[in-house]
Amino acid sequence: MTTEELNQGLGYITYGLYIVTTKYEHQYNGMIVNTVLQVTAQPAQVAISVNKLCLTHELILKSRVFAAMPLDETATLPFIGTFGFRTGRTFNKFEKIPFEQGFLGCPIVKQHTLSYLEVKVNKTVDVGTHTLFIGEVKNVGIINPGARAMTYEYYHHVIKGKTPAGATHAS
Ligand SMILES: Cc1cc2nc3c(=O)[nH]c(=O)nc-3n(C[C@H](O)[C@H](O)[C@H](O)COP(=O)(O)O)c2cc1C
Repeated sequence: MTTEELNQGLGYITYGLYIVTTKYEHQYNGMIVNTVLQVTAQPAQVAISVNKLCLTHELILKSRVFAAMPLDETATLPFIGTFGFRTGRTFNKFEKIPFEQGFLGCPIVKQHTLSYLEVKVNKTVDVGTHTLFIGEVKNVGIINPGARAMTYEYYHHVIKGKTPAGATHAS
């Protein structure tokens, strides 16, 4: 197969878009992922795929908790860019973004989001460039039930967003 065929084939996989946050000691951070997947119902478990170079990766490894918030279609490129194109290693992403602290301590962002899932990590799987963090949903909150969830396709075709190198999916 060619790289074009590979990318075209993989490009038909559908995703949503999410903010994933965590907190370790006094440090809050968050990033954009398209890779949140519910893996079991009883108990409710989800998995995320996070690049090992991300600050969020380093912090989740230590804290063993994360929160995941599905974005809605009102999320703007600058808002997504704050979490998805810049690293918390060089600036504080939460300086200008309002948040509340969740049950497990992670920042909960209620702007442009539908709900939040607070997750305790019980398994990590090394998949090379990324780690799969798998955990049980310990708390959930509904933020904006009437809004439409942003899909990865909407992000690319309507918002005209890009995906940075190092994300899970090459676009
Ligand atoms: C649309 C989009 C999807 C992304 N999906 C992922 C993903 O699934 N996994 C990942 O590791 N990074 C993904 N990223 C990249 C991270 O959000 C980005 O590297 C971020 O700057 C990491 O921040 P941090 O170093 O503060 O943790 C995505 C970015 C965008 C814009």
